[in-house]
Amino acid sequence: MDDELILLNPGPACTSQRVKDALLRGDLCHREPEFGDLLARLRADLPRALHLPDHEALLVTGSGTSAMEMAVISSVRAGREILVVDNGVYGDRLLKIARANGITAHVVRPDGDDLTRWTTPADPEAVRAALAEHPAVDAVAVVHHETTTGLINPIAAIGAIVAETDAVLVVDAISGTGNEDQDLGEVGADIVCGTANKGLHGLPGISFILCSAKGVERVQDVPARSLYLNAASYLKGQREGNVPFTPAVQVCYSLDEALQEYFEAGGFAGRTKLYRERAELVRAGFERLGLDVLVRPDLRSNSVTMLHLPETVTYDRLHDELKARGYVIYAGQGSLSSRFFRICTMGEIPWHRLEDLEGALSQSIKAARG
Ligand SMILES: Cc1ncc(COP(=O)(O)O)c(C=O)c1O
Repeated sequence: MDDELILLNPGPACTSQRVKDALLRGDLCHREPEFGDLLARLRADLPRALHLPDHEALLVTGSGTSAMEMAVISSVRAGREILVVDNGVYGDRLLKIARANGITAHVVRPDGDDLTRWTTPADPEAVRAALAEHPAVDAVAVVHHETTTGLINPIAAIGAIVAETDAVLVVDAISGTGNEDQDLGEVGADIVCGTANKGLHGLPGISFILCSAKGVERVQDVPARSLYLNAASYLKGQREGNVPFTPAVQVCYSLDEALQEYFEAGGFAGRTKLYRERAELVRAGFERLGLDVLVRPDLRSNSVTMLHLPETVTYDRLHDELKARGYVIYAGQGSLSSRFFRICTMGEIPWHRLEDLEGALSQSIKAARG
């Protein structure tokens, strides 16, 4: 792995050889009992891994956005509405999904330009006020870790407010499963969206939602707004060991292996500790190099760091210089793309490659200045 390109983008993240090898477990028809066994194991292990043992897992073949779309369209009953918390690209995506599917959506969003909105955490009191103002709201949707800037939202405080109502809480934890400190078991979320890749270290291509008893009840009460992404169809099929459509069987094998690795490495406690240590290591290097982190320290995630581009250095030059030295970084999104870049320490990354990052960054910045 020494000469391999290290992906420092927030997914797809690097995976271990063991996870890659699992792709070769063999061909398997998803209508055979062996697939039923694999599905049952994944449906048991995902909630256990994320401290949500009473939630029911539904797996879908697709990227994380398919889990988001399944969650949004399956959580709002006919004639009811959704409240979306938007302080980043993924909050905005939740909103777009609702509107694209004809669901009336209200939004709680910090004031200001992109830079201000995307560095301000969601405000639980604004959620409370919006719920009081819009009594037809049936679901509140919020992103746990806004990958846009590497900011953590106060989902537990929002969960406590939503729990006082009939609404369900939908949490996009796609960038926060296993890698961020907030224990999802302490949030009161009814529908949690996640993906096999990112913090769980599987391969991209399989995503999932985890539903509480209230979430399960809700998805069964909602009209089918999509053929492919209707959670109730998955619930019915998967309870019988089946999936409604052809799944990415081999990606399921890899997720199975990734979850075994996760448990062997100490589960949630072990994985979050590793991510905290990585953040400490690379951020100490950023500081020595004089690179400023955009997000306030108390709001920073363990896995994504948004940094100001050094003066006279363009993202494209920095990207290419770092890639030549073995690291792939990631641009800022939207209007922040010309001023910031992101470094993400998700996935399987040898420690020494993270230690070497500071030197590679230093050389790359010098070379990019020309
Ligand atoms: C918080 C969050 N939600 C949703 C997504 C969308 O996932 P995908 O690109 O796999 O569809 C991402 C991807 O980076 C994300 O970080």
